[in-house]
Amino acid sequence: MKTKIQPFYDRATFTLTYVVHDEESRDAVVIDPVLDYDPLSSSVATRSLDEVMGYLTKEKLRVRYVLETHAHADHLSGSQVLRRRFGADIGIGARIRDVQKVFKGVFDLPPSFPVDGSQFDRLFEDGEEIAAGTLRIEVVATPGHTPACVSYVIGDAVFTGDALFIEDYGTGRCDFPSGSADALYTSVHDRLYALPDATRVFVGHDYEPGGRALRYETTIGASKAANVQLSAATSREAFVAARTKRDATLAAPRLLYPSVQVNIDAGQLPAPHADGRRYLVVPLKGLYERSAASADGVRDVTPEQVAAVGGTARIVDVREPDEVNGELGHIRGAELVPLATVPTAAARWREDEEIVLVCRSGARSGRAAAALASAGFRRVMNMAGGMLAWNAAKLPTSGDESRAPGLSPTGKGAPIRP
Ligand SMILES: [Fe+2]
Repeated sequence: MKTKIQPFYDRATFTLTYVVHDEESRDAVVIDPVLDYDPLSSSVATRSLDEVMGYLTKEKLRVRYVLETHAHADHLSGSQVLRRRFGADIGIGARIRDVQKVFKGVFDLPPSFPVDGSQFDRLFEDGEEIAAGTLRIEVVATPGHTPACVSYVIGDAVFTGDALFIEDYGTGRCDFPSGSADALYTSVHDRLYALPDATRVFVGHDYEPGGRALRYETTIGASKAANVQLSAATSREAFVAARTKRDATLAAPRLLYPSVQVNIDAGQLPAPHADGRRYLVVPLKGLYERSAASADGVRDVTPEQVAAVGGTARIVDVREPDEVNGELGHIRGAELVPLATVPTAAARWREDEEIVLVCRSGARSGRAAAALASAGFRRVMNMAGGMLAWNAAKLPTSGDESRAPGLSPTGKGAPIRP
């Protein structure tokens, strides 16, 4: 087999698509094709694919497979277009099932959405050898960026997706659900770096760091010697620490939600609604999604988080009336419901609404939150540190309005008046 590798660069998403073919048989695979998506007009286009398809047609290639290195979070896959046009099968790592399970919940997909990978034509196991006509392809599981990531070895080349980038950029981020910097270390250091040094590496993205020209090809040897994040000499501990620290600074990918919901369904656009149109889902991140688990099993939010978006949630102050009007003040819009009266008041609340409990130090409100959670309220949170922390953070308090006799500071429900 004499292989030819043709790269295509989608500058809008910094994605490399590769066409690999056997020059004798014309059998070909396409790795990581891109379907263009413009989020502002919410429309798809095939500009990127047209270039790839033009090449496939001109070269008279027989496309055996579309190979996905993983479920991408930064672009929609063009796999279904190639499947329809060329009759290619779509393959991905078998652990796509794990990714489907996680994101089925994130997108609240219907129970009928399969999480067994059956939307794909082939699911590849680690070490599996695929025959794409005369092309021979070896699958190397390289989890870390996502659990389902695989690299494809074809001849003297390896296609690493988002596991390994050009040495001046590093590796893929590991902060997506079920991502793992520890797993990525094993994938790169122990699996990819075990390939011969001369192996040519073709990366899934290039971000042209520092304004340098596009690069998409390196070698295992060059990566081992000089990858800025993970060279052969980098220790596991150092990599995991640095990767985790860097990931904490990264914003979510621009096309995260449109990409993932389409890509876990093998690149199929969502089924049309009754009106014939397709709709992509964007989950709204509430205060609850920002909350953190605490030692006592209650979800905690910080005063800063409450100050930022608390107005979208029900804020319940469980202190006694004299405290509410004391020197710590209270949060504007809070309902004043002394601890003992919480069960009665809660009868008026919806079990799925966001409820933030507040007290002086966070102790009483923590107990109230735990009680509400066990009574079936699903999105209750405790404001950690209470009004002491709120005041320490110099956040605005509202004391004056509620001092007027008979005036509810909230305007909602029937708060206990001071
Ligand atoms: Fe990715």
